[in-house]
This record gives sequence, structure tokens and C-alpha cells, in this order.
Amino acid sequence: MKITPRHITGLKVIIHLISLGFLAMMIAQTLTGGLGADPVEGLSHFTGKAALNTLIITLLISPIARRFKMGQLLKVRRLVGLYSFFWAAMHLLVYLALDLSFDISLLASEIVERPYLTVGAISWLILFALAVTSTQGMQRRLGPKWQKIHNWVYLALLLAPIHYYWSVKSGLTEPAIYLAAVLILLAFRHKTFRRWLPAIPYINRTTSSRS
Ligand code: HEM
Repeated sequence: MKITPRHITGLKVIIHLISLGFLAMMIAQTLTGGLGADPVEGLSHFTGKAALNTLIITLLISPIARRFKMGQLLKVRRLVGLYSFFWAAMHLLVYLALDLSFDISLLASEIVERPYLTVGAISWLILFALAVTSTQGMQRRLGPKWQKIHNWVYLALLLAPIHYYWSVKSGLTEPAIYLAAVLILLAFRHKTFRRWLPAIPYINRTTSSRS
């Protein structure tokens, strides 16, 4: 199927509608008590899952575009990625506002002391860096560095389900499925990762001493 600019505009409208629909659903559930016995925990779960799901969808776009020869699809990747950061920002805001009453020093000490939060914070910072450098202007200004910065998305993708797995006390099946799905998604990129290996001095030295 040939994708035209009109299809892309339509797809972007659908992405906005779905995302805003989920936001409206979250607000409605908060107001009507639909988030369970602990609404703060409910909000944290909703926003965390939304951030992870949209991040996975962002990284799925490129293999789908390649598989079905629909390169134009890449034009919606930035939008979905920005929604992933939006949900990650809401997730942090919920924790900071409702769990920590905006105590920034407590947030810093929690991130340092709790490894699952350290991992989540690294993933969050990567998504933040990607969001602020996502504009065409930044892409032009950063030149070849832009792609290098945006390659960090793979680390953010790997760390997010680890953070999820580590955060739960029981019911490990769902986070384990997420982790497995992300590992499979990353395995699709094995050729890209292999290309980076010569750039890592230690691995470069080991491989050349073997040959
Ligand atoms: C500074 C950054 C972050 C902080 C402080 C943070 C904080 C938290 C906390 C406190 C929980 C446990 C909620 C609970 O069980 O009560 C949690 C769970 C979770 N977080 Fe984060 N997080 C951060 C970044 C991220 C990022 C970047 C993602 C995804 C891209 C993410 C996805 C999740 C998911 C999926 C869960 C599990 C939700 C569930 O149990 O249903 N988090 N996070």
C-alpha cells in the first residue's frame, strides 16, 4: 500500500485522539474512584505502563516500516516518542507530587538509594534528552551527533522494563513478558548493535588479538 502525506496526517490525528483519550480516561478514573483502593498507586501504574507501551510502539515503527516497505510511517515515530516522554513526565510528576509532596531532595535520595528508581531515572533522563533534541532544528544543529544521541533510546527501552520488574513485589509474570518483548525487539536490531562493536575499544582489542 502506498502511504501518502494525507494518510500520515490522518494517522497523526488518530495518535493524538488515542493519546488524549487515554489521558481523559485517566482523569475520569481518578475522579470516579476507578483507580482502585490506592489512587496514587493506580496513577503511577497507569502513567508508567503508558510510557512503556508508547516507547515499545515507537521502536516497533521502524521494523514495521521496513518489513512492509512503508518508509513514510517513520514520519509518525517522533510524535509517538514524544507521547512516551509525556507519559514518563506524568509518571514522575505523580510520584513527586503525590508520594513525595514535591520534596526534590527526597526524590534525589530515593533515586540514589533505591536501585529500581535509579534505573527508572536513567531511562527517564534519556527520554528527556531525546524529547528536547527531537526537533528538526536540533537535528540540523547537532549534525551526526544527533543520531548518536538518539541511539540511547535502546538503553532507555531496556531499562524501562527492568525498572518495572524490579518495582513489583508480586505478580512478576507481566513485567517478565514486557522484558522478554523488549529483548526480542532489541534482538531485531542485532545488526545495528554489531556495527557499533568496533567502536568499543575493549571489544576491538579482544577481537583483534584473537585473529
Ligand atoms: C525518575 C524517573 C522515574 C521514577 C521516579 C519512577 C517511579 C516509579 C515508582 C515509584 C513505581 C512503583 C509504583 C508502585 O508500585 O507503587 C514505578 C513503577 C513503574 N514505572 Fe516508573 N519511575 C520512573 C521512570 C519510569 C520510566 C521512564 C518508565 C517507562 C518508560 C517507567 C515505567 C514504570 C512502570 C511500567 C511501572 C510499573 C507499573 C505497574 O506496576 O503497573 N518508569 N515507577
